[in-house]
Amino acid sequence: MDATKDILIIGGGIIGLAIAVELRQRGASVTILSRDFQEAASHAAAGMLAPYAEQIPPSPMLDLCTRSREMYADWTGKLENLTGLETGYNPCGILSPVFELPDNLAPLAPTSSWLNQTEIHAFQPGLNPDILGGWWHPEDGQVDNRKLVHTLRQAAKTLGVNIQEGAAVQSIIQKSGKIDKILTKNREYQAQIYILATGSWSSELIPLPVRPIKGQMLALRMPTPQSLERVLFGPNTYLVPRKNGRLIIGATSEEVGWTPHNTPLGMNALLQRGMGLYPPIADWTIEDFWWGFRPGTTDEFPILGPSAYDNLVLATGHYRNGILLAPITATLIADLITHQVTDPLLKPFNGDRFFA
Ligand code: GLY
Repeated sequence: MDATKDILIIGGGIIGLAIAVELRQRGASVTILSRDFQEAASHAAAGMLAPYAEQIPPSPMLDLCTRSREMYADWTGKLENLTGLETGYNPCGILSPVFELPDNLAPLAPTSSWLNQTEIHAFQPGLNPDILGGWWHPEDGQVDNRKLVHTLRQAAKTLGVNIQEGAAVQSIIQKSGKIDKILTKNREYQAQIYILATGSWSSELIPLPVRPIKGQMLALRMPTPQSLERVLFGPNTYLVPRKNGRLIIGATSEEVGWTPHNTPLGMNALLQRGMGLYPPIADWTIEDFWWGFRPGTTDEFPILGPSAYDNLVLATGHYRNGILLAPITATLIADLITHQVTDPLLKPFNGDRFFA
């Protein structure tokens, strides 16, 4: 039996790692059980920080997302200082071109602006001539999610978080309304507080309405790193240019359970929609393609906070916004655990909303 004194986090993706770093910095002893770091949705994502481009309507979810985006510069700066590694945080703004004019041109945010057809083509040369206008969201941006999770994991290790890789949890044993222990194939673990941050895999351990929603992605090599410098977020398609010349194109959204792999249909859809938005990519080099599973919930909002078990906290179901929501999730969950403070921002995301 490994009796960890303090916190045991199940899940070693961006959410588990971000919480581990935050709690460790507050003095807790933290262990992470990670089944397979490479399979986490954190690697599959494009890294957009896009509450406005995702068109999240004014709501607690928009508040949560914008608060998290505001934390990104400081959060990634601290991780970079701690590790000497990069995160690729880039507040480059996101342009959302449209092929049909919306009825309402009132901006979602005071800082966002509507560009008419002439303005948008002057602002971003190369767009499909059929584009009639679009939104410019200067506060949205991106982070290189693969660099970020690597840096976050290094930060966790540097701070002394005990990361058990290859530790697939087989069952969660409960006793008298509390979690008693966690079983993996070879070992048992006990802690004072447990945190479930297993994303798409959550409902395999606890009855929660979280399901995998597959996203296929691909990457092109741009002719020069300056060929495209801001994120383009069009209908069902986004193009995310990294400073090193890689261009991420995403993403399909498929209800196919755990069916893995890229498909001709998925790749074709991405390429057609990408070229339809920004035709110059037709000649660029295909560099890579992959897929991953987003943790979708029935209302598309994350599940954050207390659970039916006294000593289990939930941080899962981040669906399309796991990268964006990592810093605010880590802070609010750490506040809940270390100060027993439930921030008003957290309340709407309590898992009991599904069982009312
Ligand atoms: N955040 C974009 C996506 O999940 O496709």
